Amino acid sequence: MNTSRKIKDALYYIGASDRRLAQFENMMPVPRGVSYNSYVLLDEKTALLDTADNAVGAQFLENLQCTLAGRPLDYIVIHHVEPDHLALLEEVLLRHPQAVVVCSAMAGKFIQQFFSHGLQVNIQTVKEGDTLNTGRHTLTFVTAQMVHWPEVVVSYESEYGILFSADAFGTFGALGGNLYADEVNFDRDWIDEARRYYTNIVGKYGIQVQTLLKKAANLDIKMICPLHGPVWRQDIGYFIEKHDLWSRYEPEQKAAVVIYGSMYGHTESAATVVANKLGEKGFRDVRMYDVAATHVSYLVSETFRCSHIVLVAPTYNGGLYPPMENYLLDLKAHFLQGRTFGIVENGTWAPVAAKEIQKIFSEMKPNTIVEPIVTLKSAMKEEQMGQVDQLVEALG
Ligand SMILES: Cc1cc2nc3c(=O)[nH]c(=O)nc-3n(C[C@H](O)[C@H](O)[C@H](O)COP(=O)(O)O)c2cc1C
Ligand SMILES: [Fe+2]
Ligand SMILES: [Fe+2]
Repeated sequence: MNTSRKIKDALYYIGASDRRLAQFENMMPVPRGVSYNSYVLLDEKTALLDTADNAVGAQFLENLQCTLAGRPLDYIVIHHVEPDHLALLEEVLLRHPQAVVVCSAMAGKFIQQFFSHGLQVNIQTVKEGDTLNTGRHTLTFVTAQMVHWPEVVVSYESEYGILFSADAFGTFGALGGNLYADEVNFDRDWIDEARRYYTNIVGKYGIQVQTLLKKAANLDIKMICPLHGPVWRQDIGYFIEKHDLWSRYEPEQKAAVVIYGSMYGHTESAATVVANKLGEKGFRDVRMYDVAATHVSYLVSETFRCSHIVLVAPTYNGGLYPPMENYLLDLKAHFLQGRTFGIVENGTWAPVAAKEIQKIFSEMKPNTIVEPIVTLKSAMKEEQMGQVDQLVEALG
């Protein structure tokens, strides 16, 4: 059955959602699924804007066929060649061998790399400022290097004022019956997944996202059509503002989280004391995360959201508790910076967790670690309460 949606008289949404996928990029849990967006422009010439993931191939191809309704496909615009958007290119070309693929030069090269048996394809390469005219509509291409791969371009359609933003302005989460962000309670129900998508997928490339935001500021954008998640046509400034904060590595909120690890509960107990004291100090909505029980993609996202993070970690086999190490290395990889951290370590015979944490921080972008660093010996003692008070005071 055709599930495509009309966006404007000449523009259709023909994407589809995967609600069965366990992990995006086989790595990040997507309990609410993910959408693979694709669009068709029905002008004097017809253009398909990106394909979709193999997982939704049958639905995508049916939507394409129904939307074209017998018309030939003239252009296939490829904004990004990652297989979640490129996988079905060959299937489309088998049905429409005459279609010209419009993409960056680097994308053209990558396309051949992905289809190892070689692909018979007419490629028209575009660079910054080049246009594609389909009759009444013109797409102007804007390079968006490293948002999220080096070959990425976005495009701007001037008649409707639409930015086709590739992976930028996307979110995890399958679409339900509402295609537009203004038809759901985005700030209540979607922002956490949008943040987790942004921080884990493009979080590392804040500088490149800033470059794209500056270019976008020169365009009169009335609608954003991303490759994942709902389409934006209202309150676009709200979502742009979030991306501006995230890509400048600024905390979204003055808020504290306690991220802890514990094998037998003693370190967790100390983490609870710290969280309670942060609450008493006036921090609201103080959240605690068990570093071993929470997928690191959620921890990275929460760390981007918050201004203050307390790490409470055991020493393990002469080193740092491995799930804590894994989380901190992920922060390092994402260039997390500008946050205020507190450290509480635990060890029974030779505590080294704090030293190992500081070693990782010394290789990261600048963050602040407040004093004192609290050392527990197996379990927190009443007489250490003063030290914890000092730590919370310093975070205050
Ligand atoms: C497998 C294992 C390895 C540990 N390795 C060390 C270590 O190398 N040095 C140390 O001082 N404590 C070590 N500890 C002790 C812990 O750091 C911690 O003090 C103890 O597990 C109590 O905290 P918990 O109840 O939160 O797990 C180890 C504990 C476990 C279970
Ligand atoms: Fe991507
Ligand atoms: Fe993507």
